[in-house]
Amino acid sequence: MTDDTKILVLAATGNVGRHLVTGLHAAGHAVRAVTRDPGRARVPAGVEVARGDLADPGSVEACLAGVGAVFLLWPLHTGDRLPAVLEAIARRAGRVVFLGTGGVPDLPFEKQDALVHGLGIESTVLRPTTFAVNLLWWAGQIRAGDTVEGAYGQLPMSLIHEADLAAVAARALTSPGHDGATYTLTGPEVLTQAEQVRVIGETLGRPLRWRELTREQAYRRLLADDSFPDSFADVLLDGYAAMLAGPPPTLTTTVEDVTGSPARPLRRWVADHAAEFV
Ligand SMILES: NC(=O)c1ccc[n+]([C@@H]2O[C@H](COP(=O)([O-])OP(=O)(O)OC[C@H]3O[C@@H](n4cnc5c(N)ncnc54)[C@H](OP(=O)(O)O)[C@@H]3O)[C@@H](O)[C@H]2O)c1
Repeated sequence: MTDDTKILVLAATGNVGRHLVTGLHAAGHAVRAVTRDPGRARVPAGVEVARGDLADPGSVEACLAGVGAVFLLWPLHTGDRLPAVLEAIARRAGRVVFLGTGGVPDLPFEKQDALVHGLGIESTVLRPTTFAVNLLWWAGQIRAGDTVEGAYGQLPMSLIHEADLAAVAARALTSPGHDGATYTLTGPEVLTQAEQVRVIGETLGRPLRWRELTREQAYRRLLADDSFPDSFADVLLDGYAAMLAGPPPTLTTTVEDVTGSPARPLRRWVADHAAEFV
């Protein structure tokens, strides 16, 4: 670590970044939150906000003055700018925590690990399973009725709460012992999509049921859903088909090992997001 103590959080307005900024600030750390649009960012009082765009590595470097540690994820569709952003971070900070992505075709996991761990600064890669927050894709159906329609209802997943990801990231950013690690992070349980619907219903206190669609029906449903990006429909369904063909997820205890608290179960995530389903 350098003597600089400020923590830079990129993608600070996202699911994980919001929790991370709030948690680091509450624990007394100086935080600079990066967004492309500082005017719209809502952060706790006392958190500094800076403008930065990952597509423009120079704008990220301009955010790094006085920073000791950086949280980074990669929301772009190609990885071509990632080396330049990481090099900028390594020039100015002593530690980076990178939230891995499975969604960038030219950035396989091995390449992400090699880039991040090859920087010559302290580095940690977080490799999570599916985010529980993806279940908000069903929120419109659940608000409108008691049935959730989709394909691959028997697909088993381990869903992880975004707050657990932020908690692991906070530890890796602020405590020793995480350098060189790639952490595979899961939730505490494996549930099929149909079982997830049941748990949502039980937690909300409403009977909900899964209705199986063919892939083609599910594809058309996603295209008709204005809240779902059309370009992601094939990617999602192809990903689910591939997951179903592979082995079921293997649970890890890494969230608890790193944070001291067990990973939050799905019913806790639903309770935290209940207002979004009514
Ligand atoms: N969903 C899953 O199941 C899953 C599983 C594993 C990994 N992941 C990975 O997790 C990441 C998404 O994390 P999340 O859910 O916390 O984010 P999110 O809620 O989807 O929000 C995206 C964040 O990225 C920022 N962002 C987007 N484009 C940017 C750019 N050009 N420059 C700077 N910031 C930019 C946005 O900030 P502003 O708009 O404020 O600039 C926002 O804070 C992705 O890399 C995804 O591949 C997701």
